[in-house]
Amino acid sequence: MKKVNLAVVGATGMVGRTFLKVLEERNLPIENFYVMASARSAGQTLTFMGKEYVVEELTEHSFDKPIDIALFSAGGSTSEKFAPIAAAHGCIVVDNSAQWRMDPKVPLIVPEVNPEDISWNSGIIANPNCSTIQAMVTLKPLDDKFGIKRVVYSTYQAVSGAGVAGWKDLEDGLKGEAPKKFPHPIANNCLPHIDVFLDNGYTKEEMKMIWETRKILHDDDMKVTATTVRVPVFNSHSESINIEFERPFELSEVVETLKNAPGVVVTDDPANNVYPLAVDAAGKDEVFVGRIRRDESVENGINLWVVADNIRKGAATNAVQIAQLLIDAMQ
Ligand code: A2P
Repeated sequence: MKKVNLAVVGATGMVGRTFLKVLEERNLPIENFYVMASARSAGQTLTFMGKEYVVEELTEHSFDKPIDIALFSAGGSTSEKFAPIAAAHGCIVVDNSAQWRMDPKVPLIVPEVNPEDISWNSGIIANPNCSTIQAMVTLKPLDDKFGIKRVVYSTYQAVSGAGVAGWKDLEDGLKGEAPKKFPHPIANNCLPHIDVFLDNGYTKEEMKMIWETRKILHDDDMKVTATTVRVPVFNSHSESINIEFERPFELSEVVETLKNAPGVVVTDDPANNVYPLAVDAAGKDEVFVGRIRRDESVENGINLWVVADNIRKGAATNAVQIAQLLIDAMQ
C-alpha cells in the first residue's frame, strides 16, 4: 500500500487533537507526519503513534515539502489564506472550516452519502458543518427510498462545537464566572444563536445546514429550514428532525431503512427509556437515531431524534474518512 505524507493544520485545537486520535485508531498508511498551528504553539510537542512531533508554525512555506494530504481545522481565515497555497503545491486539503463549503468548485463530502464527489476536487475538499453531517447520514437513505419533500431541523448543540473557548465558557460558567466566548451565560441556559446573524434573521449556522443539505443531497430545490441552539452540554449534538416525504410509507420500512444505513445505529425502545443520548454518543463514530414516529399532522411525515459526537463524526472522523477515500483512490 502506498504511504502518504500527511499534515494536520490546527493540530493543537479541539478538532485537531481528535484528528490525531482518529488517525491513530484507523491506522492510515502515513510515511511522514507534520503538525502545524499558529506561532503561539510552535515548538510544543504532540504525541502521535507513540512518537513526539514538534508543532510547526503554519507559514507560506509549510507546503514547500511534499505533503499529499492536509487536514485543516484552524478557522475560516486560515483556510482562506493557506488552503490555496497547499493546493497549488499539489497537496489535497480536507478543510473543516466553512470557508470553501459552498464554492461550486469544492466538493462537500460525507463519505457514507456522496463519496463519488471526491472525483471532481481540484485540491480542496470541504468537510461539512457538524450538525449537517449527522443529519446527512440519516437523511440520505430515506431520501433515496421515500423522496424528501421538506425538512425542519431543530438542534441542541454542544459547547465543544465552539472550540476550546466554548468548552471553557461552560466549565467556568458552572462555577459562576462570566462568559468570554458566548454573548450570554451558557451554564443553565440555551442560546438560540450560533455563528453570526444574517440579514434574513437566520443565523449563519442555520443557513449552513440549509445550504449544505441541498448541496450534499444534490437537490437545489429541497425545502429545508432550521433553528440551531447552543445548549449546556460539553459534547455531542442532538437534533430533532421533522421530515415530509413525497411518497407514502410504513413506519416499519423507515426503521428498517435506518437500521441498514451505513454509519447509523437505531436506538429506539421508548418503553424501556431507550433513545439516543449525548452522553452515550460521546467518543463514538456512529450517528444514533431514535424516537422514530409518524408526524400525524401531515400525510407523509416523520419525526426523529438524532445524536452524534460533533467533534468525531461531526468533524475529525468525517475528515479522516475523506482522507481514507483519497488514499484508496491513490492505490
Ligand atoms: P494555536 O493553538 O496555536 O492557537 P480551537 O478551534 O479548538 O480553538 O482550535 C483552533 C486551532 O487553529 C488551533 O490549533 C490553533 O492554533 C489553530 N490556529 C488558529 N489560528 C491560526 C493561524 N493563524 N495559523 C495557524 N493555526 C491557527
